[in-house]
Amino acid sequence: MFKTKKIEDLNIPQHIAIILDGNGRWAKKRHMPRTYGHQKGTENIKTIAIAASKMGIKALSVYAFSTENWSRPDDEVSFLMKLPGEFEARFKDEFKKHDIKVMFSGRKTHLSKENLEILERITEKTKERQGLVLNICFDYGSRAEITEAIKIIAKKVEDKQIKIEEIDESMVEDNLYTRELPKLDLLIRPSGEIRLSNFLLWQAAYAELYFCETYWPDFNESELMKAIVSYNNRDRRFGGLKNK
Ligand code: IPE
Ligand code: IPE
Ligand code: MG
Repeated sequence: MFKTKKIEDLNIPQHIAIILDGNGRWAKKRHMPRTYGHQKGTENIKTIAIAASKMGIKALSVYAFSTENWSRPDDEVSFLMKLPGEFEARFKDEFKKHDIKVMFSGRKTHLSKENLEILERITEKTKERQGLVLNICFDYGSRAEITEAIKIIAKKVEDKQIKIEEIDESMVEDNLYTRELPKLDLLIRPSGEIRLSNFLLWQAAYAELYFCETYWPDFNESELMKAIVSYNNRDRRFGGLKNK
């Protein structure tokens, strides 16, 4: 399918989100510890971010650690908590070369001080870049994100800065972590699971969904292309009528 379509002929989604799933099963298949899968999976974020940037995608949101993933065994959580440091140490030069801006979405209440400093530093150092925005969702949960937005808005009502009647969908959107990103066009979940697992529930309201069997560490540029080709064959109606 990849060869029959040229990238110039495709409608490239502006904002793609990927649930980075299947690291553990990928490692198990190789009789290796789950953490080996996480290491390969982390490396793959760089590969796919660079591929996405070359394709002209504006924003790529990746789900790297969920608010529910804290319930995993301590040694696995500790390994996953090294991800921001890995990112800073190993990817910074290539991201600079490709003009990739990095931002983080997620709770700021449960992460270590050290990790919060790393996230802040990466965000600050890359904020002026004009290329792809890589939105790393780390300690992210959609329900937590929406709850936070509700609290911010409720506080404004309490402080009489706004009236209840002024609350609308765009105000909610303005208080989500993704407020500066284009609307989500395509949400991809590798690894064979057909669910959202608390990822971008609001943002995915009219996104096209794409599921594939490949485990995240094996998800490569050609898999990304397949997802984009599939997206090009969708008829996005947004509740209206067929557009053909
Ligand atoms: C995704 O891979 C990474 C995280 C959730 C942090 P998994 O660790 O969920 O891998 P599987 O689903 O068990 O194969
Ligand atoms: C979703 O994957 C979270 C991330 C990829 C970060 P999970 O493996 O945690 O999701 P479930 O448990 O299969 O729903
Ligand atoms: Mg999983």
